[in-house]
Amino acid sequence: MDSTATTTTPFSTLIRTASHEQHTEAESSTFMSDMLGGRLGVEAYARYTEQLWFVYRALEDGAETLSEDPVAGPFVQPELMRAAELERDLTHLRGEGWRVGLEPLPATAAYAARVAECAREWPAGYIAHHYTRYLGDLSGGQIIRSTAEKTWGFERKGDGVRFYVFEQIPNPAAFKRGYRELLDAVNADDLEKQRIVDECKRAFALNTAVFRDLGEVFPLSA
Ligand code: HEM
Repeated sequence: MDSTATTTTPFSTLIRTASHEQHTEAESSTFMSDMLGGRLGVEAYARYTEQLWFVYRALEDGAETLSEDPVAGPFVQPELMRAAELERDLTHLRGEGWRVGLEPLPATAAYAARVAECAREWPAGYIAHHYTRYLGDLSGGQIIRSTAEKTWGFERKGDGVRFYVFEQIPNPAAFKRGYRELLDAVNADDLEKQRIVDECKRAFALNTAVFRDLGEVFPLSA
């Protein structure tokens, strides 16, 4: 992309367009396709939910300190927080002792470490991770939820799929519009915006790597 595009295109468009290819790749990963195609059991879904917990813990542990940051601060919004919902889902899926002995898969550990590093050292980079997860959860996440409900029999918007239910965001489309306005107003120069876009691509790649690890744990026997 040339520098003219960075200057003239709204940042929300830039980041969406630039990550489009990675989105398709993540979306069509073998694990995602198998899971959403109903070819995997609830164990795979539970294992996936555990991986998300490590990622959101990194995102949200960092959020507290970043809420006052001039660049990342405006993105930190309590209605997005997911860790409590994931913990409730995991209690439902695994029982009260879900946390005992729980370890991230290697790709998950790498992903969470990168999020934590950005949260600590590079607030603008944290925005890339924030966007990749939360805007995705508000979009395609809703497809995952309804598939999970049908496939494994969770109560609609109930325990097991609460991660996908944003109780405090009654109108996700409007929220996403507001979020894109925040992106367009991001407190960063063109070079820094380009770095955020690159970090977003990295965030997608980190997600795809988690799917790859999960795919190895849950190969299709067919
Ligand atoms: C099977 C899995 C997935 C499906 C079906 C899916 C589907 C979608 C759909 C339909 C949208 C467009 C919503 C809109 O225009 O408002 C969207 C947007 C988005 N998805 Fe996904 N997605 C999936 C996986 C992922 C993954 C794994 C990530 C990254 C972790 C992700 C991140 C995003 C982001 C960041 C957006 C917002 C793009 C923007 O408008 O700026 N998605 N997804």
